[in-house]
Amino acid sequence: MNPSADLPTPVWREELESEYAALAARLEPLVPCLEIPLHLPWIDAINKLKKQRGAVIMAHSYQSPEIFHGVADVTGDSLGLAKAAAECEAGLIVLCGVHFMAETAKILAPEKTVLIPDLDAGCSLAASITVDDVRALRAEYPQVPVVSYANTSAAVKAESDAICTSANAVQVVESMGARRVIFLPDEFLGRHVARQTGVEIILWHGRCEVHERFTAQEVRHVRKQFGTKVVAHPECSPEVLAEADFVGSTTAMGKWLAREKPAKVAMITECSMADNLRAQFPAIQFIKPCNLCPHMQRITLQNIYASLRDLKHAIEIPADVIAGARRALERMLAVGRREPV
Ligand code: 13P
Ligand code: SF4
Repeated sequence: MNPSADLPTPVWREELESEYAALAARLEPLVPCLEIPLHLPWIDAINKLKKQRGAVIMAHSYQSPEIFHGVADVTGDSLGLAKAAAECEAGLIVLCGVHFMAETAKILAPEKTVLIPDLDAGCSLAASITVDDVRALRAEYPQVPVVSYANTSAAVKAESDAICTSANAVQVVESMGARRVIFLPDEFLGRHVARQTGVEIILWHGRCEVHERFTAQEVRHVRKQFGTKVVAHPECSPEVLAEADFVGSTTAMGKWLAREKPAKVAMITECSMADNLRAQFPAIQFIKPCNLCPHMQRITLQNIYASLRDLKHAIEIPADVIAGARRALERMLAVGRREPV
């Protein structure tokens, strides 16, 4: 049964103001106040349709606040979402993030329907490497294991020996038990890993188009101007990371804030992430150098609604690719089980 084929476009009703008073208060410091009445009808419609469908909405930390706080059942970094997809009971998952994240959910939960609201939500890192590139690297460096960052296509994952995220890259590289490892596709994350291990890292030249824009000069300026602590994602350049008080994955940054409780912090990462953390740590002043990920921004309340209404766009991956990619992902999850990250 399709409970939603002829649903009207959601519109504002007076009652939404009281029904969503708590959410509106949470969103008020994070989004322009004029936008809140525009968001609430969509949030309400999505939450109702989600229940009807028995769906779970998972949102990456880089999703806009109205999605992250308004409709998501599960939020987290790419590792957290991958684990949640594998463990969740629902048969229908709407993944609000980029394409490789939805693919990872499908690989770990192949019996479930995984939807992404916009199939073109890509990633410059995932686009930087193909299966043929991985095969050429293997031919050039025979016997050297390949560790791929989660920001890769399912097909590239299937060609890899193990997957890692920014939360566990060093542990996964060291778990290979090799003198040398091919690390792809993020050059900057690879360099960050190389600084922390004796394993020789063979790099690829992929870059995150969002994090590579930050410069060391900007970071020095922000620190001097605002007297702030600086936290950076390891997809930033080595020069930027050298200026930071802490370097860590999306989740590690949140944990650092909870532990250190700085008075002021500049988050050198995607812009929405700082917004979402701002709601979690109201006592901390966030200085916001703003770089938004254009791919993450493709996901909107409107296309999440359409995704649930029309059950689109379902992630489909050939069975042999699922099997290969799953093997590489399981290797990462096994490292996580031995050594929590
Ligand atoms: P996380 O693994 O920290 O979620 O990061 C994914 C990503 O795309 C960062 O730009
Ligand atoms: Fe990819 Fe960078 Fe966007 Fe993350 S922020 S999804 S690495 S382009």
